Amino acid sequence: MENQREQFRSRLGFILAAAGSAVGIGNLVGFPVNAAKSGGAAFLLVYAAFVVIICLPVMMAEMALGRRTQRNPLGAYQSVAGDKSWWRIGGWLALITPFMIAVFYQVLTVWLLGYFVGAVTGNLEAMAQPGYFGQFINSYGVFIYLVVLTAMVGVILNSGVQNGIERLAKVLMPSLFVMLLILTIFVLTLPNALVGVQYYLVPDFGKINLEVVNLALSQAFFSLSLGMGILITYGSYVSRNESVAGGAKMVAAVDTSVAFFAGLLILPAIFVFNPATNTDELSSSSVSLVFSFLPKIFLSLQAVVGYVGASIFASAFFLLVFFAALTSQVSILQVPISAFQDELKFSRAKSVLALGACAALLVIASTVSFGMVNYFTEFTSYAGQTKSFFDVIIDVFYETILPLNGLVICLFAVYRWRRSNLNAEMSVGDAAYQGSLTQKYVNFALGTFIPVVLLFVFVSTVALKFF
Ligand code: PHE
Repeated sequence: MENQREQFRSRLGFILAAAGSAVGIGNLVGFPVNAAKSGGAAFLLVYAAFVVIICLPVMMAEMALGRRTQRNPLGAYQSVAGDKSWWRIGGWLALITPFMIAVFYQVLTVWLLGYFVGAVTGNLEAMAQPGYFGQFINSYGVFIYLVVLTAMVGVILNSGVQNGIERLAKVLMPSLFVMLLILTIFVLTLPNALVGVQYYLVPDFGKINLEVVNLALSQAFFSLSLGMGILITYGSYVSRNESVAGGAKMVAAVDTSVAFFAGLLILPAIFVFNPATNTDELSSSSVSLVFSFLPKIFLSLQAVVGYVGASIFASAFFLLVFFAALTSQVSILQVPISAFQDELKFSRAKSVLALGACAALLVIASTVSFGMVNYFTEFTSYAGQTKSFFDVIIDVFYETILPLNGLVICLFAVYRWRRSNLNAEMSVGDAAYQGSLTQKYVNFALGTFIPVVLLFVFVSTVALKFF
């Protein structure tokens, strides 16, 4: 039937697609950096606790709402609360946020593609030079990579949920797991790796303070793709024979495992290649870690495995992160696409084109905001700092609105949609849900302390970031 909504072909396909969304730059780079500077295994424990007690219930609520309403986030809020209700603001936020996050993620993914090509073509030595990153992001070459990536993403999305997203995830995710495992094992066999392992796995609880706790929660939230409307959208493609709770637990487990292994790869790698590592160097952002620090580390590997070996290692690493970013990027772009399809009744191709047209200007404005065009480079200033267009998108949407969206979805699910409807939907395809511990916990936490914690994160971020 032509008008029937697409569905994931299988349970495995859905889990891999949702895991493909979740596993991204956040796991492979963000998590290791944060763990390195915030107490190693101590950070891991706090992070894992947040995944279970805060993130999982939010994830289940998003998926259940999507499957119940069979709509994109805007449509989902409206079909429960009505077109005129104030709740639709929540729907708009859950639609605009992923769109804006996709803009900055596109820029990062373009860089990853450029670095992959750089490593494959034997440019590692140049890439390890101090000024390379700044030059690269301001070179016209980035526009070529931008066009290539945009075309790839467009083709995938235009192939639809089953033939595009699900098929991509089924190929890329297993390859990603294998690559991550091989790279990790390889690093662990190198001399001095154990110092890094020890640094990572021996917890330093002295580093845990309120700021670190806040960081762990934001990291977990971003990493699981929450608050971006993605899981509402993906939920709308899940069959009514599947268990939402089971799927959510699998996705969270895969996502957290990948983050764990990424730590086991990156921290020892740093100590192997540079035993005198000063961990203060890690304190800068994850962006500078991937694009400035890691190429240096990879280059120093040539003493052990030669230049070709070092280049192969670097290429494999950038390919790994690129794959992870690509599957995340298609997931986030499917949110506005499904909104075009549901709300404006656009065909799939027309939705892809409309989205491309809306996004192009913003992506270009971000791309030139690192020095190419002054207006975007010095876009505005607040809290005493000059901010580029790219910085503003990150501060507003990723840092601030994301937890707000989480808060709104909890309140919406519990106080507007109501627990009884949530329970009923969670029990579809999952007879064991009624009366389970998961159900009791979700029913309790989603309307009480989870929104309180998210409100706290939201308010403190606004206070810290903008004033
Ligand atoms: N979960 C992703 C990550 O860790 C976040 C993300 C998802 C970003 C989808 C963009 C799009 O990188």
